[in-house]
Amino acid sequence: MLFKAWSSLVVAVASLSVASALRHHHYPQRPPYTRGHGKTCTLTPKGHGADDAPNILAAAHKCNNGGKVVLPAGKNFTIGSPLDLTFLKNVDLEFAGRITFTNDTDFWQNNSYYLTYQNASTFWLIGGENTNIYGGGVIDGNGQPWYDLYAKNPLVLRPILFVIYGARGGSAKDLSLINSPQWFNFIANSSDFVYDGLHIAGKSVSSNVAKNTDGWDIYRSDGITITNSVIYNGDDCVSFKPNSTNIYVSNLYCNGSHGISVGSLGQYPAEYDIVENVYSYNISMNYASDGARVKVWPGNAAAMSTDLQGGGGAGYVKNITFDTFYLNSVDYAIELTQCYGQNNASLCVQAPSKMKLTDINFNNFYGTTSGVRKAVVATIICSVESMCSNIEASNINVTSPAKYGTSQYICTRVDTSDLHIPCTSS
Ligand SMILES: *[C@@H]1O[C@H](CO)[C@@H](O)[C@H](O)[C@H]1NC(C)=O
Ligand SMILES: *[C@@H]1O[C@H](CO)[C@@H](O)[C@H](O)[C@H]1NC(C)=O
Ligand SMILES: *[C@@H]1O[C@H](CO)[C@@H](O)[C@H](O)[C@H]1NC(C)=O
Ligand SMILES: *[C@@H]1O[C@H](CO)[C@@H](O)[C@H](O)[C@H]1NC(C)=O
Ligand SMILES: *[C@@H]1O[C@H](CO)[C@@H](O)[C@H](O)[C@H]1NC(C)=O
Ligand SMILES: *[C@@H]1O[C@H](CO)[C@@H](O)[C@H](O)[C@H]1NC(C)=O
Ligand SMILES: *[C@@H]1O[C@H](CO)[C@@H](O)[C@H](O)[C@H]1NC(C)=O
Ligand SMILES: *[C@@H]1O[C@H](CO)[C@@H](O)[C@H](O)[C@H]1NC(C)=O
Ligand SMILES: *[C@@H]1O[C@H](CO)[C@@H](O)[C@H](O)[C@H]1NC(C)=O
Ligand SMILES: *[C@@H]1O[C@H](CO)[C@@H](O)[C@H](O)[C@H]1NC(C)=O
Ligand SMILES: *[C@@H]1O[C@H](CO)[C@@H](O)[C@H](O)[C@H]1NC(C)=O
Repeated sequence: MLFKAWSSLVVAVASLSVASALRHHHYPQRPPYTRGHGKTCTLTPKGHGADDAPNILAAAHKCNNGGKVVLPAGKNFTIGSPLDLTFLKNVDLEFAGRITFTNDTDFWQNNSYYLTYQNASTFWLIGGENTNIYGGGVIDGNGQPWYDLYAKNPLVLRPILFVIYGARGGSAKDLSLINSPQWFNFIANSSDFVYDGLHIAGKSVSSNVAKNTDGWDIYRSDGITITNSVIYNGDDCVSFKPNSTNIYVSNLYCNGSHGISVGSLGQYPAEYDIVENVYSYNISMNYASDGARVKVWPGNAAAMSTDLQGGGGAGYVKNITFDTFYLNSVDYAIELTQCYGQNNASLCVQAPSKMKLTDINFNNFYGTTSGVRKAVVATIICSVESMCSNIEASNINVTSPAKYGTSQYICTRVDTSDLHIPCTSS
């Protein structure tokens, strides 16, 4: 267990003051409740790949309002039809067994829940008030046929494995999520929800790469905690999408990802995006494109963009802290841009981003970069100085491979007075 040995090493250097400050944060927790009639509904799978969704739905109704639905350990359940569990109230879902979604991509494309934002769709929805999901079970998205299909047709809507939708209070603890067709977690229209102890993994076994396998995407949600989790994926480890507020992310081990990421934001001219009060602490980031990232689009609906389409949306990003990051072979330790999706620097200046970035802190970064960006460790590029205020970096001790020479820090159109790194402009 390389990871265990390494993490005990890094704990020794973790800033104690920060650790104790974090302990005093108020984590959103479900309020205590007494179970109504305290019913327990224990399910038996039909077996042979037959659809268990109707039985799970029936049990959820029967044991709603204070009860518990158990999918026992050692049993394999199959979900082959859409399952809406957003009506739950004070229910525990003990998922100790294994849940596998059927691989019928034709059926799911016509029958999954469509969630509009970025064409998100899913096999099932979990929500309600104080829904607590736990039990050490495995949730398997059977992603392979989706990876293969998507390689042939990029318009295919690939379901997200685990969607928390419209939840108030509640938690997901001690679960393994594997082989998601797309993002692993999406939480939308929710508040006060805690993820604790999730193990996320899965990759393609064919030559068709599993794409967009974000660990988490948070959208239109407030008071979300993500902690004590291990993520092996190929896109953002955690991503704060429009209207993510009061978010705590801590104690994560991420491998192969695109980092802890604000955005992208400001992509759509008609929308106003907010990401505010986000605290990320004690993140181990390995073999990733980025450690900490903030990406917002420029202020032009980029008809001129050569690459990605978007930009022109307004809004703000405020009070974001990335604290205590242990980096192992990441391309950029820090990447902040107000010119996302745009290679043309002059266009970026001509059409400055309408997203204002304020109070962004990068503190206590340790480790190494991969050398993909040669000597560059950090890149902070604003479209105009006035749209980036109070950007701070301190105690950044990250080294790029020696063969590229002295580590470089690019700071462009940004006030450098709180950037305690040896900035050069470019
Ligand atoms: C459940 O599925 C797992 C993984 O596919 C398999 O190893 C196991 O034998 C199955 N158990 C039962 C009881 O069918
Ligand atoms: C889908 O799963 C069934 C068994 O449930 C299997 O026979 C079939 O080969 C799988 N199809 C694909 C495309 O993976
Ligand atoms: C969806 O259903 C329609 C009508 O039943 C069918 O023609 C179509 O092929 C289905 N789509 C997919 C992707 O299977
Ligand atoms: C959503 O799907 C539509 C139609 O398939 C496509 O034109 C659009 O680009 C997709 N949007 C995103 C954000 O993927
Ligand atoms: C999610 O919230 C938005 C904004 O309030 C609303 O338009 C949408 O209908 C909500 N979805 C559900 C299912 O609650
Ligand atoms: C985000 O919040 C702002 C301010 O309340 C609102 O104008 C905007 O419509 C929200 N965006 C989404 C995607 O809900
Ligand atoms: C930091 O996170 C690691 C897991 O990546 C965990 O083992 C360790 O205990 C955490 N350290 C602190 C100070 O919380
Ligand atoms: C970690 O990520 C790297 C880069 O994507 C990958 O090559 C490696 O296989 C991953 N490690 C594991 C154990 O999945
Ligand atoms: C900044 O965000 C953190 C994390 O949500 C929060 O604890 C803190 O109170 C916020 N600070 C201000 C000044 O709002
Ligand atoms: C960059 O944008 C400017 C301003 O719109 C334009 O004049 C120029 O041709 C663009 N350059 C390239 C390489 O696209
Ligand atoms: C930076 O890290 C290196 C290696 O981890 C260590 O030797 C050095 O003392 C650190 N420098 C500072 C200024 O903390």
